[in-house]
Amino acid sequence: MNRKHVPVITVDGPSGTGKGTLCGWLAKRLGWHLLDSGSLYRVLAYVAATRQIPIDEIDALADAAHTLDLSFRKDDELVSVLLSGKDISSEIRSEECGNLASKVASIPEVRTALLERQKAFRKLPGLVADGRDMGTVVFPDADLKIYLTASPEVRAERRYKQLKDKGNDVNVAHLLREIAERDLRDSQRQVAPLKPAEDAIVIDTSDMDIDEVEAEVMALVKEKDIV
Ligand code: DC
Repeated sequence: MNRKHVPVITVDGPSGTGKGTLCGWLAKRLGWHLLDSGSLYRVLAYVAATRQIPIDEIDALADAAHTLDLSFRKDDELVSVLLSGKDISSEIRSEECGNLASKVASIPEVRTALLERQKAFRKLPGLVADGRDMGTVVFPDADLKIYLTASPEVRAERRYKQLKDKGNDVNVAHLLREIAERDLRDSQRQVAPLKPAEDAIVIDTSDMDIDEVEAEVMALVKEKDIV
């Protein structure tokens, strides 16, 4: 059977590098599907918190990962996350949920349980995949692999502005500490640690605005003849 190749662009890197904005823009620009893989780990963290499943109950967490009744609703560039039909998009975006997601994501059984769900997003005409291990583990044969970085200070500052704009009372020093902790956990875990794939193109966004990042990535898409 001659299956049609479904192109994939992976965008990995730590939070606060502009991955989410870049991926939303790119998926819309190309008319492709979008996988925000972090949202899967965040939903599982939300489930663990609401069902009071302790982080060391690996079987219960893996079971929850296998049976999540998860769906996504797309409204223009915004994707809402529904758990058993209930919109939990804003709940899963909290710092608390992100930190718990990073802990849940360090459990190998959880990662295995979520692997096929992520691969299933690969559909024509193509997929933009946002995460930590998209280019290394989930889509190792991707057509283009981008890895975004930025200094922890710049990332903390960006996150501070985002949270402040949403009316949250936050402190940059505290955010910087949390970012450092999360980076360490995500990059030192045994399975699928945060790191650039060998064939990834690394872009440091510390001194770039989002328009510049988008232009650079679009130039790579054209250069590689992906569309
Ligand atoms: O991208 P994010 O901030 O929504 O991700 C939340 C956490 O989920 C992140 O700290 C690590 C984990 N994660 C992961 O381990 N692998 C992915 N592909 C995406 C996210």
